[in-house]
Amino acid sequence: MSNLRHRLWLNLILLCVLIITGEHAQNVPDMASLLDTKLDLSHSNLTILQPSMFQQYPDLQILDLSYNALEDMNFSVFRIQSVLQKLDISHNKLRTMNCSSLHYIKGVTHLNMSYNDFQATFLCKEFASLVKLRHLGLSATKIKRSDFLNIAHQGLQTVFLGLENLQLYEAGGLQSLRTEKLHVVLPQNLTDSTHLLYDDFNISKTLEISNMLCEKTCNNAVLQIVIKSMVSNLIISDITMSGYEMVRILQICWRSTVEHLSIYRFTLIKEFDYEKFDFSVGSLKSLSFDYIFLQVFLYNSEEHPVKIFSEMFVENLTLSNAEISHFYCPPSPSMFHSLILTNNKLTDMIFAKCQTLTNIQLLDLQNNILEKLSHVTSMTSTMKSLKNLDVSGNRLYSEINKDCEWSPSLRVLNLSRNKLTDSVFSCLPTYLEVLDVSNNQLSSVGEEVNHLKSLKELYLSSNQLSHIPDCSYLSKNLIYLSIDENLIYSPSKEHLTKCQNVKQIVLGKNKYQCNCELQEFISSAESLYENLVGWPQSFMCEHPQELRGVMLKNFRPSKLSCNIFILVGVIVGTMAVLFIFMLFLCKHFDLPWYIRMIFQWLRRKYRIRNVHNDEAIMGKRFHAFISYSQEDNEWVKKLLIPNLEKSDQAIKLCHHERDFIPGKTIVENIINCIEKSFKSIFVLSPNFIQSEWCHYELYFAQHSLFGKNSDNLILILLDPIPQYLIPNKYSKLKAIMKQRTYMEWPKEKRKHGLFWANLREAIQTNIPLEDEEIFVLN
Ligand SMILES: *[C@@H]1O[C@H](CO)[C@@H](O)[C@H](O)[C@H]1NC(C)=O
Ligand SMILES: *[C@@H]1O[C@H](CO)[C@@H](O)[C@H](O)[C@H]1NC(C)=O
Repeated sequence: MSNLRHRLWLNLILLCVLIITGEHAQNVPDMASLLDTKLDLSHSNLTILQPSMFQQYPDLQILDLSYNALEDMNFSVFRIQSVLQKLDISHNKLRTMNCSSLHYIKGVTHLNMSYNDFQATFLCKEFASLVKLRHLGLSATKIKRSDFLNIAHQGLQTVFLGLENLQLYEAGGLQSLRTEKLHVVLPQNLTDSTHLLYDDFNISKTLEISNMLCEKTCNNAVLQIVIKSMVSNLIISDITMSGYEMVRILQICWRSTVEHLSIYRFTLIKEFDYEKFDFSVGSLKSLSFDYIFLQVFLYNSEEHPVKIFSEMFVENLTLSNAEISHFYCPPSPSMFHSLILTNNKLTDMIFAKCQTLTNIQLLDLQNNILEKLSHVTSMTSTMKSLKNLDVSGNRLYSEINKDCEWSPSLRVLNLSRNKLTDSVFSCLPTYLEVLDVSNNQLSSVGEEVNHLKSLKELYLSSNQLSHIPDCSYLSKNLIYLSIDENLIYSPSKEHLTKCQNVKQIVLGKNKYQCNCELQEFISSAESLYENLVGWPQSFMCEHPQELRGVMLKNFRPSKLSCNIFILVGVIVGTMAVLFIFMLFLCKHFDLPWYIRMIFQWLRRKYRIRNVHNDEAIMGKRFHAFISYSQEDNEWVKKLLIPNLEKSDQAIKLCHHERDFIPGKTIVENIINCIEKSFKSIFVLSPNFIQSEWCHYELYFAQHSLFGKNSDNLILILLDPIPQYLIPNKYSKLKAIMKQRTYMEWPKEKRKHGLFWANLREAIQTNIPLEDEEIFVLN
C-alpha cells in the first residue's frame, strides 16, 4: 500500500518535471494534427454524405470512403477541405456524380473512383480542372473512344483501370490516355480483348496486367502486340498458368521491347512440359518472380524450371517467396549481376563450388535456411565481383577455427537475424565497409575486429552486449555504429568518448541502470548529443523499478548520495553529535543512575513472579524492618517512613522506636523484628558502620537471611562509604559494596520519586501479612 503511494507520488513529481521542462509538449506534437489530416471512414455503411461529417476536419488531407454504399457524389461536402489531397471513393454504389461540384476538390492528387456503378461517361469535362491529379482509379462497363479525352493533358503518373466487368470496348478507347504507368485488370467476359490489349500495350512504358487468363489470351495475335509495344517494364500479377504458358510468355518477352519483366502472385498449374528454348542473350535484362504458388509437384530433373532460370542471360533475376529449395549453378559463366532468392528454402548446398557466378555483384539469400557460416564464406570465395551479400534471416552459426575465405571484393555484408556468436568476428572479409550483425547472440566485440580497416557502418543492435565496444579497435573510418536494444546497463564514459569520431551512434533502448555510476556517462552523453541518435527520448532508465521509463536526461541523483566521502563524512558527523549528546545526558542528568534503578526494578519484578511461596509468608507481620544509625534518624523519620507508610499500598515497617516490645532485651527485639519481617532495610552511611547496634543487626540479618535468600536484604546507601571504613569482619557488606547491589540515595530532588517507587517495589507490598491476632497468640 505504502509502496503504491510512493510510486504515485514519484509519478506525480515526474509529471511536474516533464510539464515544467516542456518535455510533454515536445513528445506529443503531431498526434492531434495527424488525426485531423487523415480520416478513414471505409467499411462504415455510409449511404449519404453530409457536410457536417467533415466540419471538424478543415485540414483534412487524406480521406478514405471506400467500401460504403454511397449512390450519389456531390463534392460540395468538401467545400472547407481546401487541402484535400487523397480521396478514395472506390467500392461504393455510385451511379451519378455532380460534375459541377468537382472544383471543390481541385487540389486532389489521388482520386480513386474504381468499382462503382457508373453507367455512362463518367469523366465529364470538369475533370480537366483537376490539374494536380497524378493518380487516378477507374472502373467501367463500357469504354468508348471519346471517354478519356477530358483527362488527356493531365500529366498522370499512374492510372488504375478495374475492368473486370467490361462489356464493350471500342477500339482505340484508351488511346487518348496519357500516363507513366497503367495498371489494367482484364475483363473476364469480353469476347475479344485483342483491341483492349493492343491499346494497353501502347499507352505507357510501365504496364501492369492483372487477371490474365493465358488459355484465352496467350495467342499469337497477342504475342505480336507484346513484341512491338511501347512497354519496357511489364508486370504481370495474379496470373494462373501452366509451365508451358509461362515459358511461352518468357519467350515472347525475350525478344520484345520489354526489358524488365516481373510476375507476381503466380499460380503454376499443370505439369511442366518443357520445350527446349534458347534463353541466351535477348532484350530482357531483369526478370522477377515473386510469390509463386505451386499447384503441381516439381520433381528434380533436367526439366526443372529453376534450372531454366539458372541458364538465363539476364542481369538481374529475382525468385522470391517461391518455396524453392535449390538453385543450380549456371553451366557456363553467367551474366547475373544480381540474384535475389529471398524467402525460399535454400540450404547450405547452394552454389557449393560454383565457379560460374563471376559477374555477380549482389546476392540476396535473406530468409532461407542456411546454417553454416563456413559454407557461406566458401560459396563467395569464387564470386570475384561480389560486393553485397545479404544472408540475413537464416540460421547461421559460426564455428571457431573453420576455414574462412571470403570473396575479397565484398563490401557490404548483412548477417543480421541469425545465431551468430562472438567467434564471427574472427571470420570477416577484410575490406568490408558495411557490416550488419544485429539480432544475433553476440556478447562482446573483441580486438579481432581491428583488421576491418575500411569499416564505415557497424550494426550491432539487438544482441546481448553489456558494454559499448572499444572504438580504438574499430576502424578510423567508422561513421555509423548501432548498439541499441542490447543489455548495456552501465555504459562506460571512457568507451563512449573513445567513439566520439563516429558521426552517428545508436545507443538507445538499453537496460540502463540509473544509479550514481551512470552520472558520468550521462554528462558525457549530453556533451556528445549530436552524435547520439535518439538522445534523449530513447534513453530511459530500466532499473531500479521506480525509475523505469524516466529519461536519462532527467535522472539527477543528489550530489550527497553519490559522493562516498561526503556520505561517510555525514554518517561519522551524525554519530559524533549523537555520542556527544549522550555524554552530555550522562553528565547532566546522571543517566547511568536511572538505568541502574530501572534495571534493579526490572530484576525484582522478575523475581517476584518466581519467588512467591507460602512458606516465606508464614508468621510475617511486617513488610520490612529498618536498621539505621541514630545519626541518620532524621532522614529515616522525615523521609523514609512517611514515604513508605503513607503511600497507596501501605507498607508496614518495623521501627524500633515504635514497634519494639518493652520488657524484651534489645537483641531479642531485633531478632524478633527481623524474623517477623519479609525484608530488612539497612540505611548505610559512614555513621552506620560506626554504630555498635547496627553491627549487631546487620550480623543477625546476614545470618538469618543471607544464607536463605539474600533478596530479603535491602541496602540503601545514604552517604558514600569509603571502602577502608568498612571493618574486615563485614566481608559480605564489603562484597555488596563492591558489587554495588545497593540503592543509592540521590541527592537531586527530581530523582527522589523514582527512588521511592523502586524501593516500594523492592519491598513487594502486594504480599499479604499474617493476621495480627495470630501473631499475638504466638
Ligand atoms: C540489376 O541490379 C543491380 C544491382 O542491384 C542494379 O544496379 C541494376 O540497375 C539492375 N539492372 C537492371 C537492368 O535492373
Ligand atoms: C540487413 O537485412 C535486414 C533484413 O533482414 C534489413 O532490415 C537491414 O536494413 C539490412 N541491413 C543493412 C545494413 O542494410
